[in-house]
Amino acid sequence: MNNSTNPAAPQSEGAAKEPLQSVQWAGDHLSLLDQRLLPEQIVYLPLTTAEDVWEAIRHLKVRGAPAIGIAAAFGVYLGVSGAEGDVRHVLDEIVRKADYLATSRPTAVNLFWALDRMKARAEAVAVRSGVTAEELKAAMLQEAMLIRAEDEETCRLIGEHALGLLADEMGVLTHCNAGGLATAKYGTALAPLYLAKERGWNVKVFADETRPVLQGSRLTAFELQQAGIDVTLICDNMAGMVMAKGWVQAVIVGTDRVAANGDVANKIGTYSVAVLAKAHGIPFYVACPLSTIDLGTPTGAEIPIEERNEQEITEGFGKRTAPVGVKVFNPAFDVTPHEYVTAIITEKGVVTAPYEENLRKLFG
Ligand code: MRU
Repeated sequence: MNNSTNPAAPQSEGAAKEPLQSVQWAGDHLSLLDQRLLPEQIVYLPLTTAEDVWEAIRHLKVRGAPAIGIAAAFGVYLGVSGAEGDVRHVLDEIVRKADYLATSRPTAVNLFWALDRMKARAEAVAVRSGVTAEELKAAMLQEAMLIRAEDEETCRLIGEHALGLLADEMGVLTHCNAGGLATAKYGTALAPLYLAKERGWNVKVFADETRPVLQGSRLTAFELQQAGIDVTLICDNMAGMVMAKGWVQAVIVGTDRVAANGDVANKIGTYSVAVLAKAHGIPFYVACPLSTIDLGTPTGAEIPIEERNEQEITEGFGKRTAPVGVKVFNPAFDVTPHEYVTAIITEKGVVTAPYEENLRKLFG
């Protein structure tokens, strides 16, 4: 069943629509909003296997670090829901499916965090005396639901902490999409903008279009417009001019992985925005849940950076815009050194330098 609608005409200013949910459990399958088709079409895909989920993550039907982790958690359950055999066998299958899902994309650490959490829960349940294979499978669904529910609450808390750094009438620039579509709800970088709207503030958002996959124009501009938030779309190469004009008082972005020293991997182009922000004396904030902070990766240099196919650049969206055979470099992410990061905003509060020390404190 493909549930497809057209979002139709542009929003009138101020009118808000219910936010779209990127990943939802639908009783016996995962209902996944196909983000590749936005903003033209709203299509929910019914996913029933771990392979469906792997493919959806790899091909950006679901994207954004927290949403990838949530989808993968449900993928583990889908991968074992029909498994026959005893507890030992189901446990082995859980580990096998989790390891397989971990190969879908390399950079967002939330993927590995969610899969490790699923495996840890499975191991804890499997050693209980008298536990059945069916109970073990049920625990996997329960854990995936919990990961999703917690993400919504986490994002709201991030929004509340981040709101303290913003003010009414401010201009805020963001890159890529770290909004509701990238999480269970609210987003990370966009969460304070939703809360600001609830408070009646008029924050003016500049959304970088975000070459080459256009998460900024297709997703951020779309979801903010749907919410009735004042958003202006700009091409990536316009950020400097907009800052020079004095229209931006804060930059806020999400992240796929924060290294132990505070270096931040995020969508390609984020580093350039951070450098521009520093040159203009504008604070550069990074918003993320604790599940995006990877103390096991010492610096940004060790973060694996995904490289995607050259067609995203040479013939994105079906139109060739480069000569056939030209050499292409297409990293999906870059690393912003911690020196450029004014603060990292988490569900536990706002962290500033020295990051090495202060990020560690978050984990007690
Ligand atoms: O390639 P994508 O679209 O998955 O990249 C997403 C980003 O870079 C987001 O900014 C990041 O995952 C944070 S989402 C809250």
